[in-house]
Amino acid sequence: MTAQLLDGKALAAQLRATIKQRTAILGRAPGLAVVLVGHDPASQVYVRNKRRACDEVGFRSLDYDLPLTTTQHELLALIQRLNADDSVDGILVQLPLPVHIHAQTIIEAIHPNKDVDGFHPYNMGRLATRLPVLRPCTPYGVMCLLAHTGVALSGKNAVVIGASNHVGRPMALELLLASCTVTVCHSETRDLRGHVNRSDIVIVAVGKPGIIPGNWIKPGTIVIDIGINRLADGKLSGDVEFSRARELASWITPVPGGVGPMTVATLLQNTLLAYDLQR
Ligand code: GUN
Repeated sequence: MTAQLLDGKALAAQLRATIKQRTAILGRAPGLAVVLVGHDPASQVYVRNKRRACDEVGFRSLDYDLPLTTTQHELLALIQRLNADDSVDGILVQLPLPVHIHAQTIIEAIHPNKDVDGFHPYNMGRLATRLPVLRPCTPYGVMCLLAHTGVALSGKNAVVIGASNHVGRPMALELLLASCTVTVCHSETRDLRGHVNRSDIVIVAVGKPGIIPGNWIKPGTIVIDIGINRLADGKLSGDVEFSRARELASWITPVPGGVGPMTVATLLQNTLLAYDLQR
């Protein structure tokens, strides 16, 4: 079997086209504040992509490029201003933040209804209690990709590899909400191979190229690779050994062009929802 490619680039383009149509009939353009502190090159690329996507669908992107010397106090003051500004529907503070700023304090300062990243404990709690409002973008994008396969998720064995606050944990909650039987693996997990080999859905978010050998995959599995790693030769690679995994899986995401574009599309979807929440 050769897996079908789960083309996140194409699906994200479809989603953006739908969002653009819906935006055209709104009374005013949804506004997304995108805040970048410092000059991390990877963050600059991500932020540029997010701002470009806003322009494409007709949103207003408000750009805040702050110096590395910005204090936590100054950043909190900006967030208070954006929270109070009715023309701002969503607030995104790009992570990671410089070490002198406590990221969780910043996340919790954003009004939950403007938290388009879905990282605020209110939004994480809503997802955990089966009443999601603003959903963390990457897991939400993965759920859109899984829906696109047309495979019924209920009762499937799903494994999430990586237990981070912003990806692995909300990913597990999304899958549980979809009635999967969910296992979360992390750095202390024993027999990672066994967990992978028993699963119908394998979702990898570690950030180590090729950490999941392709021959671990059970035939017919859906493989979602959230990892995006820059190799020594400059090429991008995922966490899964793609060529061998593709021979065994039923569906697999490419890297790049899989989950990445969906994360940006679901950010736009969240911004539209945040616009509705303001009314
Ligand atoms: N840094 C890497 N991914 C993300 C994301 O989804 N949101 C934010 N705010 N920062 C990130």
